[in-house]
Amino acid sequence: MSDALAFLVKARPEAMGHYLAFLKDCGSHLDPKTRCLISVITKVHAQTERGLRQYTKRALREGCSAAEVLDALLMAFPALGLSRILWAVDVLLAMDLPDFQRLASAGPAAAAAAPEPRWHDVMAAADLANGATARVDCDGRSVFVHRSGRSVRVYDSLCPHQATNIPHLALQGATLTCPKHGWAFDLATGQGLQPDTQPLNRWPSRLSGGRVLARW
Ligand code: FES
Repeated sequence: MSDALAFLVKARPEAMGHYLAFLKDCGSHLDPKTRCLISVITKVHAQTERGLRQYTKRALREGCSAAEVLDALLMAFPALGLSRILWAVDVLLAMDLPDFQRLASAGPAAAAAAPEPRWHDVMAAADLANGATARVDCDGRSVFVHRSGRSVRVYDSLCPHQATNIPHLALQGATLTCPKHGWAFDLATGQGLQPDTQPLNRWPSRLSGGRVLARW
């Protein structure tokens, strides 16, 4: 939510409550991927970089591929025009998202194959003490791995706010703080520590043969 919208929600809670309920109800018959792609298009039309970053990340989390995001932008060409589409592509490239990097380096065939999730061997479980967190680069993605007893959680290193790639230096004990705008997360749960912040994106994970495996 933008600062201006948050202000209006506080200053005019009743009117804005109706407005937000209206927006939520509008997409109730659409699947989550379609809703996200339409939101991406509206952010590009309004040229709000923060919104575009936020909804692109959400679209990828809902299972959209980079190729589908680009298709949505290109299909909206009559409304967006070339200059807005180029503006959006500049923003998407600056986000440094692995899905778009794959598309840029290997073309549509690789991008189409990329969304198929598979298990990745992230690290040796013995290298992570109880209560510790490690930042690991694995198969083109960076993740934070947090261990609590026999349980292991694996989080994407991309901030759920605007997809900043959170560095190792952002770790303090079990708290991860994004350097860009200060969103902080509890690695034991993945939840944001401030109100109205989204949780870290968590990948399915398991221990097998002494290794930490994660699926993305
Ligand atoms: S990108 Fe804004 S807090 Fe991380």
